[in-house]
Amino acid sequence: MIGSNTPLAAIVLCAGKGTRMRSGKAKVLHELCGRPLGFYPLRGAVEAGASPVAVVVGHQADAVQQGLAAASPGAPLRFAVQTEQLGTAHAVLAAKEALRGHAGPVLILSGDTPLLTAETLARVVAGRPAGAPLAFATMRLAEPAGYGRVVWDGAGRAARVVEEKDASPEERALDEVNAGLYCVEAGFLWEALARVGSSNAQREFYLTDLVAMAARAGGAAAVPVPAIEAAGVNDREDLSRARRLLTRRAASALMRAGVTIEDPDRFDVDEGVSVGEDTVIEPDVRLLGRTSVGAGCRIGAGSVLRDVVIGDAVTVNPYTVADDARLERGAIVGPFSRLRPGADIGEDAHVGNFVEIKKSRLGKGSKANHLTYLGDARIGERVNVGAGTITCNYDGEKKHPTTIGDGAFIGSDSILVAPIEIGAGAYVAAGSTLTDAVPPGALAVGRARQANKEGWAEKRKAARGDKK
Ligand code: UD1
Ligand code: MG
Repeated sequence: MIGSNTPLAAIVLCAGKGTRMRSGKAKVLHELCGRPLGFYPLRGAVEAGASPVAVVVGHQADAVQQGLAAASPGAPLRFAVQTEQLGTAHAVLAAKEALRGHAGPVLILSGDTPLLTAETLARVVAGRPAGAPLAFATMRLAEPAGYGRVVWDGAGRAARVVEEKDASPEERALDEVNAGLYCVEAGFLWEALARVGSSNAQREFYLTDLVAMAARAGGAAAVPVPAIEAAGVNDREDLSRARRLLTRRAASALMRAGVTIEDPDRFDVDEGVSVGEDTVIEPDVRLLGRTSVGAGCRIGAGSVLRDVVIGDAVTVNPYTVADDARLERGAIVGPFSRLRPGADIGEDAHVGNFVEIKKSRLGKGSKANHLTYLGDARIGERVNVGAGTITCNYDGEKKHPTTIGDGAFIGSDSILVAPIEIGAGAYVAAGSTLTDAVPPGALAVGRARQANKEGWAEKRKAARGDKK
């Protein structure tokens, strides 16, 4: 019945408090793979073709609206406020104004069901036969406690949903439950909602009353959906399970796209991260935020990368921690490198163990392989930064820049007090502390000259009266 010319709208219920999370933060704002929990059902509705999508907010309304809007740029969202949480039917009614002018099917879902796929949503939309005003998703659960039970009539038709608190012992024994996902014809929806009362065990306006109303008015179609997808997130245990499942889905998609993930159960990836073909990801890697990894890379065990842009053929050796950094083609970093915001590692450059880089460019083919701090530095191409080099970029008040020209050689254990400029091709003697510019091609020695005192040890012994 749903063709491309039948517009679909959606309502996502996000007004509840989420008491069982035991949190100061609204449930739909809890983070799941880098996005708020409520982002996922909104995306599902959009992917299933719904426009507009009305989002009903209530508890922490401003924060929820802001968080969800920011997570879904460009989505056709319209926010509606349910000031008092008087039940799911009352919540849907709050979206009436936001969907004014929409005639046709309305998909209704909860903000706490992040695992529903667009295909399943589309199946519920398509599951409403001609003439039936409503379809709803059902699932079978070994432990149905807490859910509304689906009651069938003698003729094999879904007759109604009874909430657990209102159910008879026989009804409670039913294991088919209401998944909380509906597709309802708009005309019927608004007309029926006006007739829903609250004379039930919870004194709430139940959306589930619509099932019995629809059954009497042309049919309520029950559409079975996979329980694993329809499971809601009610507490932090559920949240961790949802994270595992979403991560596993993302890992499967990456593997299908040609990425080797050595152990997908020991891998974390945020929504929206991209990885190129033939990249190998070792165990315990976390790819977070807006990270993108090129093709033919290797990401070493235990590396945590957030908002990192990585070109092709890059090697990130184990236990590298990088944040808001860029690595160009062929770069090699780690093990144990720390790349802080603004670290910009050029083509074929090397960054080794216990090297920290902040807001600095390391040019093509340059190397900083051991125990070094580079901050606010512009380092040219083919520069060798010796072990233990430190840019002293901070004078206690301000940060200052260091510039190192192409082909320069910085000896080990050098202290470069910024602002300072080391010219192209210059040499800095090991152990130097430099405060002044070094001209191109010069050798700078900034340390005390070595003096050898011949026979000093023997003379000392004699002075102490030691025996020969
Ligand atoms: C609801 C169904 C139940 C179904 C279950 C599936 C009703 C009466 N019961 O129960 O049959 O098995 O979902 O998960 O609908 N909300 C609001 N405003 C309100 C109340 C709720 O926005 O006034 C939102 C909540 O934030 C949540 C959703 O509606 O996202 C569902 O509410 P919840 O209280 O969790 O319903 P359940 O008791 O789980
Ligand atoms: Mg409830």
